[in-house]
Order: sequence, then structure tokens, then C-alpha cells
Amino acid sequence: MTAPASAPREIRCQPFTDQRAGTAGLRKKVAAFRQPHYLECFIQSVFDTLKLEPGATLVLGGDGRFFNREAIAVIISMAEANGMGRLIIGRDGLLSTPAASHLIRLRQAAGGIILTASHNPGGPDGDFGIKFNMANGGQAPEQFTDAVYARSQVIDRYRMATLEAVDLGHTGTVMRSALTVEVIDPIADYVQLMQQLFDFELMRGALEQGTQIHFDAMNAVTGPYAKRIFCDLLGAPQSSVSRATPLEDFGGIHPDPNPAEAPHLVELANSDAAPDLIAASDGDGDRNMILGRGMLVSPGDSLAIMLANLHTVPGYAAGVPGVARSMPTSRAVDRVATELGIPCYETPTGWRFFSNLLQAGKIGLCGEESFGTSSAHTGEKDGLWAVLYWLNMMARLQQPVETIVRQHWARFGRCFFQRRDYFIADTAQANALMDELGAKLITLTGRTFGKLVVTEADVFTYHDPVDGSVSGNQGIRIFYANGGRSVIRLSGTGTAGATLRVYLDRQVDDPAQYGQTPDQLLHELGEAAAEIARIAAHTGLTAPTATI
Ligand code: G1P
Ligand code: ZN
Repeated sequence: MTAPASAPREIRCQPFTDQRAGTAGLRKKVAAFRQPHYLECFIQSVFDTLKLEPGATLVLGGDGRFFNREAIAVIISMAEANGMGRLIIGRDGLLSTPAASHLIRLRQAAGGIILTASHNPGGPDGDFGIKFNMANGGQAPEQFTDAVYARSQVIDRYRMATLEAVDLGHTGTVMRSALTVEVIDPIADYVQLMQQLFDFELMRGALEQGTQIHFDAMNAVTGPYAKRIFCDLLGAPQSSVSRATPLEDFGGIHPDPNPAEAPHLVELANSDAAPDLIAASDGDGDRNMILGRGMLVSPGDSLAIMLANLHTVPGYAAGVPGVARSMPTSRAVDRVATELGIPCYETPTGWRFFSNLLQAGKIGLCGEESFGTSSAHTGEKDGLWAVLYWLNMMARLQQPVETIVRQHWARFGRCFFQRRDYFIADTAQANALMDELGAKLITLTGRTFGKLVVTEADVFTYHDPVDGSVSGNQGIRIFYANGGRSVIRLSGTGTAGATLRVYLDRQVDDPAQYGQTPDQLLHELGEAAAEIARIAAHTGLTAPTATI
């Protein structure tokens, strides 16, 4: 039945000066998005930039955070007024980021709007965000987000229809004027994809025989997905998935799977009761953290280990053409790629830089140090996919996490990695630090800091091998004579102040050193980076705010 609707209206508006997307979409405080016309102006700028054919299909959903439903209602009305033909929306407005990306491809949609601020806190005082993904399922490239920003700076009206509300609580298809709105099960298609890649029978058998798993959904979007996969399909007890109900404010936590935000998982891993595999995902389901008995698997190691064990997982047993890691990510995977004789690409921070490589078939696996890993199966990083990869690998090798990791080090050496974040309330201080550092790079080569000698220092520029685009100013790299490296850049996902990220890594090939902690092994590198960047002088911070 067609619901009655009044004619689309054009509403006048003024541009907002701050609608430039960061590392992963437009991310702001909820209060910013709730300003009159703010959301509408941004969405209209996206539609104006897209210039879709009338009747186009879009996927729409989010991580369920506060303002998700309101935003969806607005986008439905704007989609109709802008001539879209069909919206595919996850029930309750939920879609994990990797599931949304998959759905865009599966349904051959023109793109998708994903409502998420990832791991940032939610609730009325928390953050909200909007990402636009293209028809290939990947995040919009910089050229597109730049064009959206340019449009947002001159926009003076948006189009909005008055429509009867859509009940997001039930699956089914309804018409709203000329727009078809399809509310779907957000989980089914994603689960089917996982069943194509992984050996569910093997994993089910391993769990039956006593392998124990604990997955923490952090009150965010992966809860229902994890219940379906681990409990319903693989037979794990219900108690093996915790904090499984998506909450609008994530229960007040930062839904970010890392040791700083999930110390209880590190504690569990170090306890006598540690299950064989402990894992967690973030607000929108694209990040993953993997732990085994007595250890947290560093994301760089995780990527390297996945690559070294392709043969254990059905979807990857045929091999991959190449691999990629973001520049600050540990160089552990480089060694495996060299041994396999495949290229290893180094991209700037942010998942969108992997998209071209994946789509062009140049790589089959990729990952970032920020607990993100994925493959060509979807256009985004994928938290649950990574957990299933580990579980499948463990079941095939019949080894627990810690054995797999130690054997990997024994074969390839250990690449120690650490990220130190400095939260700087005054953005001007952070910019001054980066400016000064950039200016003095040419003077660093040959100089000694502590016991470390700088061999090279540069600003990372990425030349996309697929479309030839160039992305400059992607972080400062400093290399040392002992093989160590420090990378310094500013975060692009914060909504207040600035976060300076200092990444340290060093390859070690002496097994006697593998037992050291990253703190011990990378101490000198951290000191040198702090001295070179004059962090304390610029910011007053003598220690990192968080170490990951
Ligand atoms: C951070 C991570 C980056 C990731 C992004 C989105 O960006 O460092 O790897 O792709 O979140 O999840 P940053 O805040 O460093 O710009
Ligand atoms: Zn995320």
C-alpha cells in the first residue's frame, strides 16, 4: 500500500563550515548533529555529489548508537525527496559496518550510508558519525569526500518529504510514496558469507571437543551476529558471548577492543580460567582483538600469522595475490610476504586506502595496527571475520593461540610494536608540534638520540598504484640504525582536541629476546621519538595518555 505523502519540500539552509570527513567519515558530537539542519545539509551534500540515477538503491543502517533511529527517519524522508527508488535497512536500524558493505555488493546497490562513530562513546553526550560507502562496498575515496565537503560549503537548500514513519522493528517491505523501504534481517546475508569462507563443521567439532571461546560484543552491534554464529551455528554455550545486546550508549563504555578499554579481557587471558580464544569487537563491528592464554595478539602479528596460515582456511587456501598494511602498522607481515614471494603494499592510515587494492585484485588480506583486519570478502575491515579466521586456524592446526604465535616468532622473528597516544586538549599545540617536526626532518639523518642513530626521516606520501592518486602528508617516519622505526601523526577521528599518535616497531631475531615486553624492548625508541618531537615542551605531557 502506498502511504500518503505531501510533495517533497525544499528547505532553505546555511552551510556548516565543519562538515569535512576525517579518517572514516564525518564524526561529531551528537549535539552537533542535532543542530537544526546539520544532518540534512550533510546528507543533501552527499546526494548532490552522488548524482544518482532516479530510482537508485541504497543500503542504510548503523551501529545502534544514540540518534541512529532519528537519523534513519530523516534519511528515509530525504531519500524519497531526492528520487531514490529503494532503501535496504537493517532491522532496528542495525547493520554492522562489514555486513553493510557486503550488502551493498550483494544487492548491487549504488552505495550505502553507515551511521557510526565506530569505537567512540555513544549517548546524548557522545559521538555520532556518518560514512558513505560506494557501490564496491568500500568507503568513499578522498576525492568523493572532498567533493562532498565542497558542496556542503555552498549548500543553500535540501529536499525533504513528509512521510509516514517506517516501523524498523519488523522485516518486510513498505512503500513510502515512490520509495520502496525494505527492512531486512541484518545478520542472515553476513552469516552466509562467513559460511562460504570458513569451515563451520570443523569449528563446531573443535568446540564440541572442548575448545572454549569468549567473545565480548561490548554492548555494541556485533552481539546479535556473534550469538547467531558462535552459539546457534557453532554450538558454543550462550555464556560465551558477553555484553551481547546493542545499547544506545554502549552501557557508558568506549566500545573499543584494545587492552586499555577492555582490561578485563587481558585479565581473563592471564587467569587460570582463560578460555582458548578470547576476542572482542567494537561499536560497529569492524575491529577485532584476539587473545590467547597469557597473551594478547598484536594486530600486526595477527595479520602476519593469517598470511602465513592461508592454507588452514578454506576461503584462502588458494593463496592471495598480495597483502597490505597501513604504514604505521608493524612490519611483521612484510617478512611473510617476502617468503611467499608476494607484494606487500604500505598505505596511509584509514581503511579506504585498501579499497582500490582489494578491488583491483592486487591484495587478498590487509590490516591496520588499530585492531583492524580483513580480506576481499567485504569492502571494510571485519571484526567477526577475524575471530572466525583464528578459530578456523586453531581448529585446523589443533593448536591454541599462544602456540600459533610462538611458532610464528620462531619462524619469522618477532616484530615488537607499540602505539603511544598523547591526548592534547589544545589543537594549536598539536599543530605546532607537527609543523616544527616536519620542518626539522632534513636535519635528523645521522644524529644520535640516546643510543639510537637516525638513518632516515621523511613524510609519508602514498601513490595509489591503481588510480595513480597521490595522498601527501600521511605521517612522519623516522628510521634508526638498529632497525627500529617511529611514526608520528595526528589522529583524524577525534571530535575534540587532538591525539598525537606515536607508533614504534622493531624486528628482533634473537629468540632470547622474544619474551621481553614491548615496553622494555621499545623503551629507547619511545624516548627518542618524544625527544625529537619535543612532546613535553609543546604539550606539557611527559608520558603518553594511553599505550596500546
Ligand atoms: C583510527 C585508526 C585507523 C582506523 C580509523 C578508523 O584513525 O588509527 O587505523 O582506520 O581509526 O577506525 P586515526 O584516529 O588514527 O586517524
Ligand atoms: Zn569501527
